[in-house]
Amino acid sequence: MQVRRRNPCLLEVDDALVPDLSALLRGQARLDSEVVCSLLCPISGNRLPLSAVEARVIAGISALQWHALDDVSAMHGVSPDAIASMAERGLLCSDADDDDSTRLREAEAQLASMGWHPHAAVYHALSRWHAVEGDEGARDHGDPAHLERLRSHAAIHGELPPHFHVRDDAVDHIRLPLEPLDDSFARVLRTRRTTRHFRSDVSLPLADFNRVLYGTFGAIGTEILAPQMVAIKRTSASGGGLHPIEAYPLAIDVEGLAPGLYHYEAKRHALALLEPMTREQARDLAATLTIGQTYFAEAHALAFHVARLDRHHWKYRRHPKAYKAVLLDSGHLSQTFYLLAAERGLGAFYTAAINDADVSDRLRLDPLREIVIGANGLGVPDPSRTSLQLNPEPYNPANADALAP
Ligand SMILES: Cc1cc2nc3c(=O)[nH]c(=O)nc-3n(C[C@H](O)[C@H](O)[C@H](O)COP(=O)(O)O)c2cc1C
Repeated sequence: MQVRRRNPCLLEVDDALVPDLSALLRGQARLDSEVVCSLLCPISGNRLPLSAVEARVIAGISALQWHALDDVSAMHGVSPDAIASMAERGLLCSDADDDDSTRLREAEAQLASMGWHPHAAVYHALSRWHAVEGDEGARDHGDPAHLERLRSHAAIHGELPPHFHVRDDAVDHIRLPLEPLDDSFARVLRTRRTTRHFRSDVSLPLADFNRVLYGTFGAIGTEILAPQMVAIKRTSASGGGLHPIEAYPLAIDVEGLAPGLYHYEAKRHALALLEPMTREQARDLAATLTIGQTYFAEAHALAFHVARLDRHHWKYRRHPKAYKAVLLDSGHLSQTFYLLAAERGLGAFYTAAINDADVSDRLRLDPLREIVIGANGLGVPDPSRTSLQLNPEPYNPANADALAP
């Protein structure tokens, strides 16, 4: 068997809290800390524990060529079995033809050929969520409970930094004239808000869903840049003009539309049904995929943002800003989604707290090529419930000097 270093190969050295055994023997419950070293796997998203000796072996092997297992063993004074065990645990790549070794080699080759930046690949893999269940849905959202949570957070982490930021090294201040934001466009901007209460007694009209989908994710133009290279134009900006983000709606209660998971095809402005389900199943799925934020499952439809990295990385290969740019694309689309909803008097939200690994599985995506970023939601708001939203007082900067610093 031959082995080589993993590629990319990022190691983490951390301190883990472990029970203090000598204290335990004396009948005391205490924690001790222990240095732990792990390889951060960009394929599985797992931390693979390794010893200091194994870290030394890894640091001495190239990823660019294969090495005979016996040579590595002799060079590092480690038994051949120990090197084989490192390959089995994914700490090294091997040329063995078992399924796990083959999958690892193929996945690494795919990462490289797709131009993933190594740090982005590791960050992405380790920040994916599977079956996470938060307590947001079950929390007491009353004002006193909310205040208490904020107070105890501040007691542990200190006060929240001030809301308005002022530089004390400015050499001058120029007050700007205040233009009222009261034209029709500005009114839409002002009414944009995150909605967490939706009406269960009415369906979302298809016309509304259609407009928000088309206005956000629809193609309003195309431009041939070169043969086989076409840019699409949407209402939002996109890094490099590539528009790598696809919308995957989860229809829960949309008039005339069967509940289920869809892909929005911008080419024909059509919905491709991927998985039909009942309304209850769609609602349950919405709650599970948004980590138990049950208020978001009240929405009439969700739209998952999924970036096609093969398109994005085609231009930005191993680019240190590529991953950030694709997340920002999602933010731009989301703001457009929010504004289109606000203009129609609909409620919208965006959530990044999703079980993205489960969304990916459910949509049968290739997780190294198509990444799930977040989800917008849309629905008919329930104005009778206002607890889960900001209810801010109007603010006028003209009165700033009268306020306490
Ligand atoms: C990137 C991003 C992630 C968000 N994730 C969540 C979330 O997981 N859960 C949630 O309740 N709200 C989420 N929100 C909504 C914010 O909480 C909301 O925008 C903020 O409280 C301000 O309220 P507003 O949108 O009404 O102005 C998210 C917003 C953004 C931009």
